[in-house]
Amino acid sequence: MLYQRAFPLLDRIDPERAHRLAIAALKTGLIGADRRADPPSLAQTVFGVGFPNPIGLAAGFDKDGEVYRQTLNLGFGFVELGSVTPKPQPGNPRPRLFRLTADRAVINRMGFNNHGIEAMAQRLNGRNTAQGIVGINLGKNKDQTDAAADYAAGTRRLGPLADYLVINVSSPNTPGLRALQSRDALAALVEAVLAARADLSRRPPLLLKIAPDLTDADRQDIAEVALAAGLDGLIVSNTTIARPAGLDPRFAKEAGGLSGRPLLQPSTETLRDLYRRTGGKLPIIGVGGVAGAEDAYAKIRAGACLVQIYTALVFEGPGLVRRIKDGLARLLAQDGFTHVAEAVGADTRGIDGR
Ligand SMILES: Cc1cc2nc3c(=O)[nH]c(=O)nc-3n(C[C@H](O)[C@H](O)[C@H](O)COP(=O)(O)O)c2cc1C
Repeated sequence: MLYQRAFPLLDRIDPERAHRLAIAALKTGLIGADRRADPPSLAQTVFGVGFPNPIGLAAGFDKDGEVYRQTLNLGFGFVELGSVTPKPQPGNPRPRLFRLTADRAVINRMGFNNHGIEAMAQRLNGRNTAQGIVGINLGKNKDQTDAAADYAAGTRRLGPLADYLVINVSSPNTPGLRALQSRDALAALVEAVLAARADLSRRPPLLLKIAPDLTDADRQDIAEVALAAGLDGLIVSNTTIARPAGLDPRFAKEAGGLSGRPLLQPSTETLRDLYRRTGGKLPIIGVGGVAGAEDAYAKIRAGACLVQIYTALVFEGPGLVRRIKDGLARLLAQDGFTHVAEAVGADTRGIDGR
């Protein structure tokens, strides 16, 4: 509530500056931790990892693993760091982050600004895994023509330090990246990354993060490649390059990926489609526009085991995590589910829980 009262002030600060302020505030530990126990109905094991609750922090907030302990302390069931590339890189020129407050949305064209895999490895070395679940989202450097080499390098260096890894081929801000979602390119890439993982003594689950802007044929190819290759899961979805009607005209034409409320429906429909196409056999993390318990529950009923948030935190503040968890536990109980896993894909399977 304090955050919501302070938001009009924050809303006047340049968005990228506000983001750095948030990271700095988290580092000081001044942002309140939430150590209350999670409702037991929210615990779940997914791809072999035990999650205390299904609400995670999406990639892009903590690109360099600077504040993962602090964000876990906010009550997230897991946090995803990155995207991280083998070499450090500055990303695109500023301005590259735009807050569309009236639309409850953000447009970003950050372009994988990050400190590189070595800095990330240093930060995670010796991490206390009991503190919580940390996934690492891998990208490729802008100037790298051999994409597979970059994702394989990330896998080798960071795989041993991660609870799960993500191949991110869905950011709209690295030229050519999303083309890696097409059938042959994807199959070759996944094969190379799985080979890199096979050499590790500890092999984290490997997920693929996809865009919401794909054709039916693309989605079918992705489902088939993911199942055939033995990927451990999908993340649906990244930001959209679409610009739905009615967006704030001051920003609607900015290049980049749109996130937040306007992404909720398209990303949930993409998730529902992938859940059907994979026959519910692959765990899916649902992300895009979640701003409350109802949105998270809709993703779960559409086929998500886990849900991530980013943009809504900008507008709602960190108290949102607790509100979503409490609300979700209530919604599950209302529908007669004793456990979140029972509700996964309930819409598609025609289960009403009663
Ligand atoms: C500023 C910003 C930076 C992001 N950076 C990344 C990134 O580096 N890698 C990635 O996979 N997704 C990135 N994302 C996408 C989010 O992880 C998420 O998929 C998307 O924002 C939709 O969720 P939301 O509507 O809850 O924000 C970024 C999003 C934002 C707003």
